[in-house]
Amino acid sequence: MENSLENLTQLHQTERVRIVGMMTGTSADGLDLCLVEFTGMDRFPEYRVVETREMALPPELSTAFKRPLELSLSQATELSFRLGEWYAEQVLSCGWDFHLIASHGQTLVHAPPRYTLQIGEPGYMAQRLKKPVVYDFRTADVVLNGQGAPLIPVVDEYLYRDSEEARLCLNIGGIANMTLLPPKSHSLPVIAWDTGPGNTLMDRAMVTWTEGELSYDADGKNARAGCVNQTLLEWLLQHPYCQKQPPKSAGQEEFGSPFFQKIINRFSPHNAGDWQNLLATLTEFTACCINRDLERFGADYPPFKHLFVGGGGSRNVYLMERLQKMLPRVTIEPVEEAGVTQDNKEAFGFAYLGYLWLRQLSGNLPSVTGAREPAVLGKLCL
Ligand SMILES: Nc1ncnc2c1ncn2[C@@H]1O[C@H](COP(=O)(O)OP(=O)(O)O)[C@@H](O)[C@H]1O
Ligand SMILES: [Mg+2]
Repeated sequence: MENSLENLTQLHQTERVRIVGMMTGTSADGLDLCLVEFTGMDRFPEYRVVETREMALPPELSTAFKRPLELSLSQATELSFRLGEWYAEQVLSCGWDFHLIASHGQTLVHAPPRYTLQIGEPGYMAQRLKKPVVYDFRTADVVLNGQGAPLIPVVDEYLYRDSEEARLCLNIGGIANMTLLPPKSHSLPVIAWDTGPGNTLMDRAMVTWTEGELSYDADGKNARAGCVNQTLLEWLLQHPYCQKQPPKSAGQEEFGSPFFQKIINRFSPHNAGDWQNLLATLTEFTACCINRDLERFGADYPPFKHLFVGGGGSRNVYLMERLQKMLPRVTIEPVEEAGVTQDNKEAFGFAYLGYLWLRQLSGNLPSVTGAREPAVLGKLCL
């Protein structure tokens, strides 16, 4: 089928559509792809997860995306084209039958409400796959004075909001974000925010300690072997971001390589024991940010019964144990909802945001991002 405006208009009126959601997060570990079939015309279509894939990013792209603030303008521009071309190759290699692509791209800078930038030139996919691509999902919200993030809460609402019970959704990627879902028809709004670091500081500690050999603390084993340094933890918790109220969102600007360097300057690890203590402290910091924010901003909500956790950090067994200790009354369980899992939830989420775009329905929640009004998110590349 030709990639034309006419066909797109037809698709807009077609009830059953297949959308590829694509996500490359701040961890810069890989591309997550999720092919979803939606049936419906409104906000709450039926869905079926058809297939999920994860592709490791080529090392040169991954290395650059781990230190985005150090890129020159021409390097960033070139990376956008190379990433876009690589995206097209990956989607082609899946051999999937679908109608539309929804691509988040790679965040290079994020300083809302002033600006945000996700790269990954969509033209390659439009050209090679002959399918419409929706991309740049955050800008419309930032233009309306919003944070442009988090965007997954609308997906949490779709998948998890219950009529009786207040629930929590947590995603632990490079950065962690949390969604508070009051029962349906409750007067309090859905709110969400980035709580602070997810895996980013722990990952940096592992890479620095092992000189690049290991990229993360598998299952939190090293953190478990270490002891929390209370002085360092207190200092970490004084980070200005931890004092902010929602709406708030974070990125490499707050918790990237410059902040990690500051940590290393304060606490210079000399041996394996020191590094394990640092990892224990950084893991505790991630958990404390989540717990403290929930205490502060969730106090007026009915008691939360369940917390559904996703993202790579949900595989960090030790981090999950720490979090469960801090939240004894909440049942913490991995995301698992009819084919949506802790690994594909964000890619699924972008497929859903692509669906909302196709129906021209708003994708941001102003109660979450602080935007002046709801907006249709995404731009079109044919
Ligand atoms: N078994 C595991 N133990 C601990 N951490 C893990 C494990 N598996 C994945 N991770 C963490 O998850 C991260 C990737 O998570 P992901 O959800 O893809 O983040 P992003 O959305 O930022 O790309 C890895 O960098 C790593 O820190
Ligand atoms: Mg990832």
